[in-house]
Amino acid sequence: MAHDNPWPNEGNTGHIWDEDIRELDNPPPLWWMLAYYAGFVMIIFYVLYYPALPGPTSHTAGLAGWTQVKEYHEDFKVLTDWRSEKFAVQEQALTSKSVEEILADKNLVNYAVATSKALFGDYCAGCHGSGGMGNVGYPILADDDWLYGGDVNALYQTLVNGRVGNMPGYGAMLSEQQVSDAADFVIAMSNGKADDAAVAAGRDVYNTIGCAGCHMPDGSGMAALGAAKLNDKVWRFSGDKAEVMKTIKHGVNAVGDKNTRPALMPAFAERLGDKEVKRLAIYVHSLGGGQ
Ligand code: HEC
Ligand code: HEC
Repeated sequence: MAHDNPWPNEGNTGHIWDEDIRELDNPPPLWWMLAYYAGFVMIIFYVLYYPALPGPTSHTAGLAGWTQVKEYHEDFKVLTDWRSEKFAVQEQALTSKSVEEILADKNLVNYAVATSKALFGDYCAGCHGSGGMGNVGYPILADDDWLYGGDVNALYQTLVNGRVGNMPGYGAMLSEQQVSDAADFVIAMSNGKADDAAVAAGRDVYNTIGCAGCHMPDGSGMAALGAAKLNDKVWRFSGDKAEVMKTIKHGVNAVGDKNTRPALMPAFAERLGDKEVKRLAIYVHSLGGGQ
């Protein structure tokens, strides 16, 4: 900083760096001051116009009565109005047609599938996994293996009324050895080895104790009861021997047995209404395993 000021008359503050860089004492330019005051005006406008000042229980509402949530609802209504106008024909068809009639109309199927995904995510994916890929204890919907049948009417009935599979527990009736033999037979059956001599004892249990009455002699299952197919490699619960023994001992939804396997598919007719149930039946049918 220099002591003598080589520019005494230009109104500098006397602060000089690098010999000639001076700090001047000019007023700010007019445009800058106007912008500065305009800023205050904007602040006052915003505080009055929009919700702004917090209070003990609420906040100032603002002259416009605007809220983000209100704007969201208004925009959403515009969208749903537009949708229900644009797709009125399809929605009407979903209401009036049966699931079989819907299935016969390829455009309608595409529409139902496209509009089901959020619904499935909200009401079904929690149990059946996203895209119906299944969860422990909950059947996979995206394959071709069905407890209650995979034709669109069976799927519709499953959704309307719900399903509660029922298998009694045999823990009290059979010895540990018999349960073990039956499990060996069931596992052999799933591997296509039902006729092996090694599982003769289990086959005997299976055919005499009543298993075949629900699961059929060849293990092909019975859709009317939801009795799982046992002659394929798809397991509803598990193909692990200890788990198969557990199923045989404690059954499924067996009353009074706290170790039984719970299996409850809730009914959706009342919760969602018929149109949405049809939409979902078509969607599940499309997941890859529809028959
Ligand atoms: C609380 C859990 C739960 C929810 C939520 C649920 N399900 Fe299920 N669902 C099950 C169970 C458990 C079964 C198997 C029932 C049985 O074993 O008897 C099942 C069975 C089914 C079946 C029959 C599968 C077959 O192999 O025959 C279909 C189809 C199905 N669910 C579709 C749906 C759809 C679509 C939704 C959504 C609207 C849904 N489920 C919601 C638990 C659930
Ligand atoms: C009253 C009919 C009924 C009888 C009798 C019955 N089951 Fe079942 N069983 C079912 C039903 C229904 C299911 C499927 C339950 C579900 O998923 O909701 C099932 C499931 C099973 C499973 C599970 C299959 C899997 O994929 O995880 C096995 C194993 C099984 N049964 C074996 C047997 C054996 C062995 C016997 C005889 C000792 C037997 N069941 C008797 C109805 C029956």
